[in-house]
Amino acid sequence: MDQFAGRTAVITGAGSGIGRGLALRAASEGMRCVLADVEEAALADTVAQAAVVGAEVVGVPVDVRDAESVEALADLAYDRFGGVHLLCNNAGVFQAGVSWQRTVADWSWVMGVNFWGVLHGVKAFVPRMLEQEQQGETQLHIVNTSSLAGMTTSAYSGPYYVSKFACASLTEVLAHDLRAQGSAIGVSCLVPGAVDTRIADSTRNRPDEPPGEAQAPDHWFVADALRDMTTTVGIPPEEAAAIVFDGVRSGQFWICTSDRYEEILRPRFDAVLRHELPPSVQF
Ligand SMILES: NC(=O)c1ccc[n+]([C@@H]2O[C@H](COP(=O)([O-])OP(=O)(O)OC[C@H]3O[C@@H](n4cnc5c(N)ncnc54)[C@H](O)[C@@H]3O)[C@@H](O)[C@H]2O)c1
Repeated sequence: MDQFAGRTAVITGAGSGIGRGLALRAASEGMRCVLADVEEAALADTVAQAAVVGAEVVGVPVDVRDAESVEALADLAYDRFGGVHLLCNNAGVFQAGVSWQRTVADWSWVMGVNFWGVLHGVKAFVPRMLEQEQQGETQLHIVNTSSLAGMTTSAYSGPYYVSKFACASLTEVLAHDLRAQGSAIGVSCLVPGAVDTRIADSTRNRPDEPPGEAQAPDHWFVADALRDMTTTVGIPPEEAAAIVFDGVRSGQFWICTSDRYEEILRPRFDAVLRHELPPSVQF
């Protein structure tokens, strides 16, 4: 996809961080924007900022864990704008902790947003995007936000890593399935490095717990380190968004915002080829 103006973007997790960066970038490219988030006040802020840029923009409260909620988002986008050209399944949450100690509720929450949320987006939008393609539309692209944590592992963040591997794997499978069926819809897997967002405070949007209270110490130990890292070395969301748009424009499958991509990935794949456990990654 290399033409954005006048086309429609749908972005989940648009109320904050990378999603907000993507929304404002889409608006500045002249796209019509359908912005979704579970945090309604934050979403309203992004909608207002995108409107200032001059975009035709609509905000939709959506919980991506809920298939019907995402289906309603697709209905609204197609009813309102007649088509969707750039779909960013970006909403995500961070859940750290030791794998056997985290509760089923912890695992369900992070998998619900980071894996099921992306799958719901794929199921709601891809059939409609395929119809657009059959009608001659060529400017169509899907970006799923995984993470470098979807390509590497370390201790104390099992739920997040597992959910991001699932997202990355789903995105590869999606691209293969589309190609196997003769579709040229573009697919990218966004694997950000550190970006200065509110990801370390993800529990603010966790519905089944008072924010921050019920989480175990092993979660906060890592979340605090993540907050330190994202706020000190994280790039601004608008810079991440610019990298994403460049990656979409040039048809990259893996879009990475970190200049440590090769340094982080090469030891992993070398270890895999040696039949060894890959090294634990220090971001
Ligand atoms: N910030 C980083 O360093 C970093 C690194 C790698 C990957 N990521 C990924 O980037 C994506 C965006 O995260 P961010 O860093 O901008 O964090 P963020 O917390 O600033 O933004 C995430 C947004 O997702 C929304 N959200 C959470 N649960 C939702 C739900 N159930 N339904 C709809 N929206 C929901 C939040 O309200 C928030 O607006 C996530 O998938 C995250 O895993 C971030």
